[in-house]
Amino acid sequence: MDKYEQVIEMAKRRGFLWNSFELYGGTAGFYDYGPLGSTLKRRIEQIWRETYVVQEGYMEIEAPTVGIEEVFIASGHVGGFSDPLCECKNCGEAFRADHLVDKIVAVADTLSDKELDKVIRENNVRCPECEGELGETYEFNLMFKTQIGPGSGRQGYMRPETAQGMFVDFLRLARFYRDKLPFGATQIGKSYRNEISPRQGVIRLREFTQAEAEIFIDPNDKKHTNFSRFADTLVNLYSDEAQDRGIVDKMSLAEAVEKGIIAHEFLAYQIGLTNHFLQRVGIVADKLRFRQHKKDEMAHYAIDCWDAEIETDRFGWVEVVGIADRTDYDLKAHAAVSKTELSIYREYSEPKMVTQFVVKPNMGKLGPLFKGKAKDIAEALKAMSVEELEKDNIKVTVDGEELIVPKEIVEFAEETVKISGENIIPHVIEPSYGIDRIFYSTMEHAFEEEMVAGKDDTEEEEARIVMRLKKEVAPVQVAVLPLLTREELITPAKNVEIQIKQKGLLVSYDDSGTIGRRYRRNDEIGTPYSITIDYDTLEDNTVTIRDRDSMKQVRAPIEGIADLLYEMIYIGRDFESAGKAL
Ligand code: ATP
Ligand code: GLY
Repeated sequence: MDKYEQVIEMAKRRGFLWNSFELYGGTAGFYDYGPLGSTLKRRIEQIWRETYVVQEGYMEIEAPTVGIEEVFIASGHVGGFSDPLCECKNCGEAFRADHLVDKIVAVADTLSDKELDKVIRENNVRCPECEGELGETYEFNLMFKTQIGPGSGRQGYMRPETAQGMFVDFLRLARFYRDKLPFGATQIGKSYRNEISPRQGVIRLREFTQAEAEIFIDPNDKKHTNFSRFADTLVNLYSDEAQDRGIVDKMSLAEAVEKGIIAHEFLAYQIGLTNHFLQRVGIVADKLRFRQHKKDEMAHYAIDCWDAEIETDRFGWVEVVGIADRTDYDLKAHAAVSKTELSIYREYSEPKMVTQFVVKPNMGKLGPLFKGKAKDIAEALKAMSVEELEKDNIKVTVDGEELIVPKEIVEFAEETVKISGENIIPHVIEPSYGIDRIFYSTMEHAFEEEMVAGKDDTEEEEARIVMRLKKEVAPVQVAVLPLLTREELITPAKNVEIQIKQKGLLVSYDDSGTIGRRYRRNDEIGTPYSITIDYDTLEDNTVTIRDRDSMKQVRAPIEGIADLLYEMIYIGRDFESAGKAL
């Protein structure tokens, strides 16, 4: 069993993850989160909220998961959100053509369908399921289509990213933030992609959770006011150029910006924040790197993108977060399709005197001459150059019709005017997190199987599975365990449970099986502390606290136990200081 299999086996057994629709045989690309899985996932999401919404101040919005067609025409998803699909002529199984050849060519995901076909034919690549011949590669759009309303209805799509909701709401958000850049908005929610052949558990789902921030910044100011927070942070950077060398560089974010490896401070700050978040939820620092997209793999909307990649046992380096500089691509695209200006008025600190060319058509003369077309002609004249306006007969095209305007009814001149500000289209920096992938990686990085000594010298070593989850994310933070299932121990144990619950900690009360078994169960699901109530408790009102990682035990009074645990879980209080060592 590799680590993936071990983690998934435990996850299913202990109520973290289950195949969806299991009762009906299931289908690929969908997973249910069980009671412990949902809790772990929510806790990761909660830390994300604390990071981006509370600390960074990017307020959360909630837009529909179903979108109308115009949104995805503008975003480019209707036209180009596809993967290369290739079907087996014999068994009909579908495959990602680039995945079929990624061991043969290094840059499979940058090849065209024709190039992929060429590699498939030249290398006699066959169907991995039945060895059958493969058909021609074609582009398969990954969006799930749906119909909005009955009858002929309206074409809709399940959103493939949460991002578009923030772009569509741009003007509302700008007003909310009083038109002051930078500002940002976030969303955590489901996204849908009809992945061609999802065979990687929660790494590749057809319905998954994204947490995205769209941060609107001044295109002329990509500095970050709080950059010093991460300036000295060392990160593993795998830049475009480093990938050619095959070596990951460990360097500070300040150095990376200075050397032009990361284009600007704002992007670097986001890399620092992602690095901080991922380690906070339990990703191992050495198994985390930031890989820059190569020019030919960049999404259609981005000029630069760094993926946070996590090393996993079975799948190697997996992208879990994409941090992209989307420039003004999305706002311009939505402005064009919606025919609405999506910009922000930025007032200059001091007004500027600007010399500009001004055209003044004489409406008193244009009106009688051109009647209903006069207004459109006036607008067209304002957009013309001096050379065109200096001609005796000025040619103007309105609604496809060419009209001649006499020179004497158009005045133009250069004027110096005072300008107090300008309309600018913000640029967007986007950290885009895949929560399911982070959820799985958190479990895998925490998962350990170790040999521990038996109960006494005569007993052999035994294997212990322990998930060393961060205390902040563990779905059960404290287990309350009466030593025996006896009334006199159950009652005080229940009282301890209530005290700890009231402090807001996640508690599980467990009185089934031997105490050793219960410790093992809690080690497996990552419970950082177990409290045991025994006969000494009845004598002196103390309990045993057991530490998951070291398996050490201390004795502490019941009074104040909830505060003590809270401090150990959230404030970093040392376990050894919690009571008398046993
Ligand atoms: P991949 O190349 O692995 O398909 P992607 O480049 O398409 O990923 P993005 O479009 O950048 O991914 O999406 C942003 C984040 O959403 C990813 O970093 C990932 O964590 C998550 N994500 C994307 N597709 C899926 C999926 N099918 N299942 C689970 N998470 C996903
Ligand atoms: N919003 C980035 C992505 O999902 O691709």
